[in-house]
This record gives sequence, structure tokens and C-alpha cells, in this order.
Amino acid sequence: MKKVLAIYPGSFDPPTNGHLDLIERGSKIFDELVVAILRNPEKYPLFTVGERRAMLEKLTAHFRNVRIDTFDGLTVDYASKVNASAVLRGIRALSDYEYELQMALMNRKLQPELETVFMMPAEQYSYLSSRLVREVAKLGGSIRDLVPTMVEQRVREKLDPAVKLQNARKMKSGKRK
Ligand code: PNS
Repeated sequence: MKKVLAIYPGSFDPPTNGHLDLIERGSKIFDELVVAILRNPEKYPLFTVGERRAMLEKLTAHFRNVRIDTFDGLTVDYASKVNASAVLRGIRALSDYEYELQMALMNRKLQPELETVFMMPAEQYSYLSSRLVREVAKLGGSIRDLVPTMVEQRVREKLDPAVKLQNARKMKSGKRK
């Protein structure tokens, strides 16, 4: 029987418990699942694509049929490149539906053979998004229970003024060389 490879595209800035929940569900129904991080969608991301990739690789290391990759350009072109027959997307609430439907139908117009599969994350993650996680963390709120512990630590390090200063100095001295 033909193996079904699906891609799960997104920004994952940062990966949340909702993403992990969906990856676990996807890994159970697809033979292979590629979590595909979009490069360059945001001007000022919290994490570089490399950092997001490293976090996701650690967080999904226990799934034998999940791998992490990055892409740019159209999702449908990336899907063709890796021979995917499905795109996995999460729908948290009705408010997601319109945008997701639009994307799914546009992707179908561009690549009729590619199916979009919607899955629902566990209901405790139905209000969770990377954007809200970034905002809450930047304003000093707790993001425990919203992201894996490792991500919580990385976010804290990123937003710690001392670490920020250190990184800025490193970048500056790198540029001078
Ligand atoms: O995590 P996000 O931001 O909800 O993911 C959105 C993503 C990456 C799935 C979407 O922006 C996308 O597919 N971008 C790639 C460019 C593309 O194919 N655009 C047309 C989609 S209809």
C-alpha cells in the first residue's frame, strides 16, 4: 500500500503544547509527518528558524515517523518537492475556520492532488497561539502549561535583558571582524 506522507507547515515561533498535541495526533494517522517551518514570514521573529528547528527536533525526537524541515515559497511547491499527499493543519475554534478554509481551497486550486486534513488539538489548547504566548511572555506573564518546559526556558532566556545584551554584543563584535 502507498505510504501517506503529510506536511505540517507553520511558523512555530515558538512551538506550543498545541503544536505538539497536533504533531502527536498527526503521527498516528500518517505514515510520515514532516513539520515544515516557514522561513522569513515575520520581520522580527522571536526565534530564528534554526532555533525553532532545534527545539522541534528535540521535542519530537521520540516520534519515529516525524521529521523537521524548513521551506520557503509556496506550501504546495514544498509538498510536491517532498512527495507529500496531505497538508495537516489544526483548527482550534470556529474563528480559525474561515482562514484555514481559504488557505485549503487556494492550495487545492494550486495543486488539486494535495489534500488538506484538519485536526482538532485537545480542548485545553483551543485558545493557545504562538502570538499570544509571545505577547504574554514579553509582558511578564507565565507561559507554563502553554509550551513545553524547554521552550519556556528558551523564551525566558530570549527575553532576559542580560542575555539580550550579551547577544547584541556578540553580534556587534561578529560584525566588526
Ligand atoms: O503558523 P501559521 O503562521 O499559521 O502558518 C501559516 C502557513 C505557513 C501555513 C502559511 O502562511 C503558508 O502556507 N505560507 C506559505 C506561502 C503559501 O503557500 N501561501 C499560500 C497559502 S494559501
